[in-house]
Amino acid sequence: MSLNKEIAKRRTFAIIAHPDAGKTTLTEKLLLFGGAIQTAGAVKSNKIETATKSDWMEIEKQRGISVATSVMGFEYKDIKINLLDTPGHQDFAEDTYRTLTAVDSVIMVIDCVKGVEIQTEKLMEVCRMRNTPVICFINKLDREGRDPYELLDEVEEKLNIQVRPLSWPIGMGKGFKGVYNLYDKKLNLFSPSQRKLSDDRAVFDDLSESRLDELIGQNNANQLREDVELIEGVYPDFDTKEYLEGKVAPVFFGSAVNNFGVNEMLDTFIRIAPAPKSRNTEDREVLPTESKFSGFVFKIHANMDPNHRNRIAFLRICSGKFERNKPYNHVRGPKPLRFSNVTQFMAQDREMVDEAFPGDIIGLYDTGNLKIGDTLTDGENMTFKGIPSFSPEIFKEVINKDAMKTKQLEKGLKQLMEEGVAQLFTFDMGSRKVIGTVGQLQFEVIQFRLKQEYNASVEFAPMQLYKACWISSSDKKKLDEFVQSKNRHIARDKDGKLVFMAESKSWLQMVQDNYPEIEFHFTSEF
Ligand code: G4P
Repeated sequence: MSLNKEIAKRRTFAIIAHPDAGKTTLTEKLLLFGGAIQTAGAVKSNKIETATKSDWMEIEKQRGISVATSVMGFEYKDIKINLLDTPGHQDFAEDTYRTLTAVDSVIMVIDCVKGVEIQTEKLMEVCRMRNTPVICFINKLDREGRDPYELLDEVEEKLNIQVRPLSWPIGMGKGFKGVYNLYDKKLNLFSPSQRKLSDDRAVFDDLSESRLDELIGQNNANQLREDVELIEGVYPDFDTKEYLEGKVAPVFFGSAVNNFGVNEMLDTFIRIAPAPKSRNTEDREVLPTESKFSGFVFKIHANMDPNHRNRIAFLRICSGKFERNKPYNHVRGPKPLRFSNVTQFMAQDREMVDEAFPGDIIGLYDTGNLKIGDTLTDGENMTFKGIPSFSPEIFKEVINKDAMKTKQLEKGLKQLMEEGVAQLFTFDMGSRKVIGTVGQLQFEVIQFRLKQEYNASVEFAPMQLYKACWISSSDKKKLDEFVQSKNRHIARDKDGKLVFMAESKSWLQMVQDNYPEIEFHFTSEF
């Protein structure tokens, strides 16, 4: 198959949601439709076992939290779908942010009872940064949820994106009758079933037909007629281009656990979701159709096998064809790299691959050469943009509890930071090391892994810090002066970039006001 055809048949996306909205459930239903698993509920019923298959860290098994971002590939109607799973636990949000850099679109799940929740807002902010196209799935319609109009308004308001419903619910909770597909003009009646795959749909070119009253009752039929008239009047026609530009999110209603509304969304998804898109490097835009291979590492998983210090780097292919055993330019590193052990992820299994194409995510077995954000190419020296670090929210100082193991600690910290578990800042004064994370759980993970994998013992001392801000200025002299005068608050990130460690919001504001020529950034990429 030609490169162009391979690209055209791929869709790489992630599902994002606040925990408990139904991301896992929707994922398993999508896998079911793709024939990647055989029975509905299979994934659910052995959730722990599945977790041990796709998640590799011992600690995850212990906690039963899916920390890993695994990739699930499956085919549906001749389209190769790469679904990147994201950790449900909000403490691992940074992992999710990075995963979002490797996808071309997202499906956002919202619980109709709870509406837009905080984690969804944060994840959407990241999607907005690169105008990622979003499809919205409002879930759990079998429960007494909020008014659909109110939910749509909330999505527009809180997530800063216009919506366009492509299906409309008839009733909710106990009175939930089904959804009307506004796009195909089909009525899909609800029958709670976790196993049924296909839905019976009635086509209605004209909703005034009395058949509608017979199917859903006169009251529901009238309400639907009224709603559809209102929606068609209020919302402009759905425009795929606006969706692809990240301006409008099409909305579907359904119930993932009952397998309802999922099929419709998936059918629309493969029709409108973008095939692999071009990506920017620091110098130029790279088109997926370019014949030479390029890609970037967005995630690293270490020590899957505790007996070996091996790691697996997840690489998103951006252009050309990747071939196993071919030497590639490791742009940051000293020498070309060649990979003999390359896996792709089909459903819950991993399989060895010889070649892969733009949009694909491959796992490269690595002995410590690769780092998050690294670019591999077939020759050219360029670096893909868009894997920023975000300012952490919790900061703690690293206290070494065993001076004999200082080397192990340094090595362990370096490797864990390369994996992106957390961020390390080293103060200019006194070389104090501070770890910043978005959640409390990471500190436990780090402590556990340092002990388990590197035999180093640490404790963490809480620090009163509000934000780590990357600083820059067009006036080098002013920047130097600022660094001098605030030297107690200046640290370096893992790449040696200058960071201002702000103790409180008000103080940061004051410093910003006093130093207008200094720019303060909340992500490492500016
Ligand atoms: P997450 O990955 O986003 O965290 O959510 P997950 O799919 O695990 O779903 C969270 C809970 O919501 C699960 O219930 C799941 O069964 C339920 N759920 C998902 N979709 C629907 C739906 O359409 N309707 C209703 N009523 N519930 C839904 P749980 O009690 O936590 O787990 P389980 O005992 O059902 O497995």
